[in-house]
Amino acid sequence: MDDLKSCYELSLPVTEKCNAISRDIDRANGKQMVQILRRCDAEIFEKKINDDSFQQTLYSSSVIQTMVDVAKRVEMILRDPEESLIVLSGCGTSGRIAFLLVTSFNEMLKAQNQKQICLYIIAGGDRALLTSQEAPEDDPALGALTLDKVCAGKKRVLFIGISCGMSAPFVAGQLDFCLKHLDVFTPVLLGFNPVHMARSEPMQNCSFHFKDVAERMTAEQRQKKAFVLNPVLGAEAISGSSRMKGGSATKIILETILLAGHESAFRGKITMPECITARITTNEMVYETTYSHSDELAALIHKAGESLQMKAHVYYIGWHTLGVIGLTDASECIPTYGADFDDIRGFINNGFSEMKNKEGDLSSLGPQFVIGHKDFVDTILPTLSQNDMILFLFSVNDDLHEVTALADQVRRRTSNLHAIAHDLEKLTVPKRVCNMFKTVLHLTWSFTSEEVNSFVMRQRWELSTKWCLNAISTGAHVLKGKVYMNYMIDLRVTNSKLYRRAINILQRFTGCAKSECERALLRAIYSTDDLSEDMTSADVWKHTDAANRRDQVVPTALVMIQCGCTLAEARHHLDCHPVIRDAVSACFSSSKNKSTVD
Ligand code: F6P
Repeated sequence: MDDLKSCYELSLPVTEKCNAISRDIDRANGKQMVQILRRCDAEIFEKKINDDSFQQTLYSSSVIQTMVDVAKRVEMILRDPEESLIVLSGCGTSGRIAFLLVTSFNEMLKAQNQKQICLYIIAGGDRALLTSQEAPEDDPALGALTLDKVCAGKKRVLFIGISCGMSAPFVAGQLDFCLKHLDVFTPVLLGFNPVHMARSEPMQNCSFHFKDVAERMTAEQRQKKAFVLNPVLGAEAISGSSRMKGGSATKIILETILLAGHESAFRGKITMPECITARITTNEMVYETTYSHSDELAALIHKAGESLQMKAHVYYIGWHTLGVIGLTDASECIPTYGADFDDIRGFINNGFSEMKNKEGDLSSLGPQFVIGHKDFVDTILPTLSQNDMILFLFSVNDDLHEVTALADQVRRRTSNLHAIAHDLEKLTVPKRVCNMFKTVLHLTWSFTSEEVNSFVMRQRWELSTKWCLNAISTGAHVLKGKVYMNYMIDLRVTNSKLYRRAINILQRFTGCAKSECERALLRAIYSTDDLSEDMTSADVWKHTDAANRRDQVVPTALVMIQCGCTLAEARHHLDCHPVIRDAVSACFSSSKNKSTVD
């Protein structure tokens, strides 16, 4: 059985594998969790992954050279912006990072009286910035159509399609569209698997799959007509959760490319591999500095875990782009941990006018879209309890009067108020401000005079805050018992990638054949012990549509297989163990006892 499990693990792409470093994260306390996450994130900057010298990593010369080549395309577009565009596109976190980078880069261009030529696309539109919209990810035609629309009339487009797992059909459709129009488009694929591990499953109404597209891109790269940027970062700390390392590396790589292109276009600095390497090293320093505050980080994980365990809430109150980082982290908890939208929630100063998203104010769409500080004061503050954790995210450059005034209001209701605060060696956040918070993760940064007041500084604060919040929200859900080993076992099976992941998880834990695992999953999805022909022969998209309306499908299927029981018995077992980790452990120990007796 163990052989079966390890064969199956070997067949997975890197981004879906189980990371040996975090295998026991579900049994770790806050301090141990920080160390585990620190080691997993260190792999982003490793020169060799698992001693495998064939896998290219972020620092590999081939990766750096591709970054140089893409930066040169950015430079060309910035020099001649008429009828040109740079488009960044992705699904889920990849789309949210695209949004953050594009809005920041456009702001920088605007401040320098340059044309704002960057555009983002996120599968599912702007509502996907704040909520989980998983189904559009499966639609390659929708991806192509959206791209075609935004690029109408342009003569030159640099298109960067982000799919950490090299799997999203939405992005594959866009890259295929670009490959058919290479006279206008230069496509770039950003992901974190070797090309041979790109997804090779059929896609909705489509004659090609992701791997086909990746291979065609590789072929075009020889003539520099397309580029594949795919360093390997090692597996995620929570298996498959590409919001973590994948999201951070996306931010590091694309910011580096955009800034290098900008410096060449407007400051005459020729982009050399050494400049790219130096920028990556600076981000490595951000990583070191952030994780050097491990005690405060562990304390914040512990506090957030306590709040979630008591069914209370965690609220991130952020300023400017740190607010965007908070909103992004909070929104990811819904699909990743099956969390309610108000378990962890983000708020930003000035709400949508600060976001600068394409579709403007979305607050009329429902409570999930109510994101301003004023909304927090009006709707959350009056009901706040001591069990709710409030985390402020700000820097010394933000309006500290506003920060203290809001902190004062919160303190009148609860002392469970904490902060992540960034400042500079020569310009620190005053002590009286820090003293308002119970825990302050206070990061003081040193910058060269050239960097201060630049966008670079803000980008580093964002990355550092992302690492902290990823650790806090992951740690809190682990403490709540949502994770078994390092698998998020109660995932929502809302698209084809997640459907495959669900089957993989079942295979991983039961050692059973794929067909048996899929049958159990379908029984849980369609809520029956007797699957009809219609059910078993339906498309994956029908299954995911049905799964969207069901809770605990993977745990139910797991218990059914492991205990050889009916759907009703499996549900009863889960009802008796509200914490998923306990339910799964109990199921494994009862089936072990049974087989010993047998
Ligand atoms: O389908 C959900 C999801 O896994 C998100 O959590 C993730 O951010 C998104 O897909 C995109 O994944 P990728 O970057 O691998 O295409």
